[in-house]
Amino acid sequence: MKKILITGGAGFIGSHVVRRFVNQYPNYHIYNLDALTYAGNLENLRDIEDATNYTFVKGDITDAVFLDDLLAENDFYGVIHLAAESHVDRSISDPLAFVVTNVIGTVNLLNAARKAWKDDLADHLFYHVSTDEVYGELHDPNEFFLETTSYDPRSPYSASKASSDHFVRAYHNTYKMPVVISNCSNNYGPNHFPEKLIPLMIHNIMQKKPLPVYGKGENVRDWLYVEDHARAIDTIFHDGQVGETYNIGGHNEWKNLDLVLLLCKIMDEKLGREAGSAESLITYVTDRAGHDLRYAIDATRLKTELGWEPSLQFEEGLTKTVDWYLNNQAWLDNVTSGNYKKYYEEMYG
Ligand code: NAD
Ligand code: TYD
Repeated sequence: MKKILITGGAGFIGSHVVRRFVNQYPNYHIYNLDALTYAGNLENLRDIEDATNYTFVKGDITDAVFLDDLLAENDFYGVIHLAAESHVDRSISDPLAFVVTNVIGTVNLLNAARKAWKDDLADHLFYHVSTDEVYGELHDPNEFFLETTSYDPRSPYSASKASSDHFVRAYHNTYKMPVVISNCSNNYGPNHFPEKLIPLMIHNIMQKKPLPVYGKGENVRDWLYVEDHARAIDTIFHDGQVGETYNIGGHNEWKNLDLVLLLCKIMDEKLGREAGSAESLITYVTDRAGHDLRYAIDATRLKTELGWEPSLQFEEGLTKTVDWYLNNQAWLDNVTSGNYKKYYEEMYG
């Protein structure tokens, strides 16, 4: 049995990746390493927690000694690295936390892998999961991010992810670490923490709270259903070329305001409320500092070389997502109590 280490597997995307690997590959033993920060939640993995090919390890990637021991004691074939601080607004209020986890944590993991794999380095794989935000923002509607687009990170979050990507490439060049990197657009779907746009709006519509749209709602994001991202990671982990980068995206651009209006329409119908009820909750609030205007991925490489394409249309994915939140109110209540409540009140009053 091949042992695979997935970091950040209790978070939003990581939990979908862990589930996919545990269910699809009985010949792998999946180790999920997660510090269980505010964003990590073992509830996300209840359905697979007793699987014989799954083990949860509580631990912090900022702890180099812990990582060295873990990788020395287990003969992991590969690492899929997702653990990170992931929210732009939090990076604006506390940039250093992003440097510590995203940059130092990644370098710790690279060092631990280098030490543990020193005798047969080429027989392993270090997969680093990153974001399209490292490329900066687009203005020309005909332009898209390519794998060759220069890095131009503009938020503390994207600067920390760009830095971690550079370290991963530097370890490939300097130490011949077998690496692969993917840069994905905005994800949505079940288990998304309600500080990000889509789950925050779903939560607030349910609770009849204001829907805070930053600025005029004209910023554009390219949305991908989270299970499609997990499938892309699976494809790249198995068939990607070592040393290469793959962009992953939904070809699904939405202005924030248009997205919120669509969500309002779906939710009014689902909740049996009068048309226009949710829309009346929209509140324009002060724009995010340094707010990137538009992200849009060109995922041609992944399609032509590895045959991956998104599977879900946006309305279908959004409806599935809304259904999941309506059927999992206990999950929402749980993650919106305690510390998150304090954060929410500070952010939105
Ligand atoms: P998330 O915030 O939902 O989850 C992050 C997970 O990492 C949590 O389970 C948390 O407990 C864990 N973690 C945080 N710090 C840790 C530490 N020091 N040690 C161990 N575990 C720690 O994030 P997400 O949205 O699922 O994103 C996962 C990865 O995918 C990140 O690397 C992110 O940059 C990248 N990404 C996210 C998106 C998106 O739209 N959410 C898009 C592209 C790429
Ligand atoms: P977010 O989900 O935080 O992802 P990212 O900033 O990484 O793209 O935000 C998506 C878009 O929605 C972004 O343009 C900021 C905007 N936004 C709002 O308008 N209101 C909100 O309450 C949040 C959280 C985001």
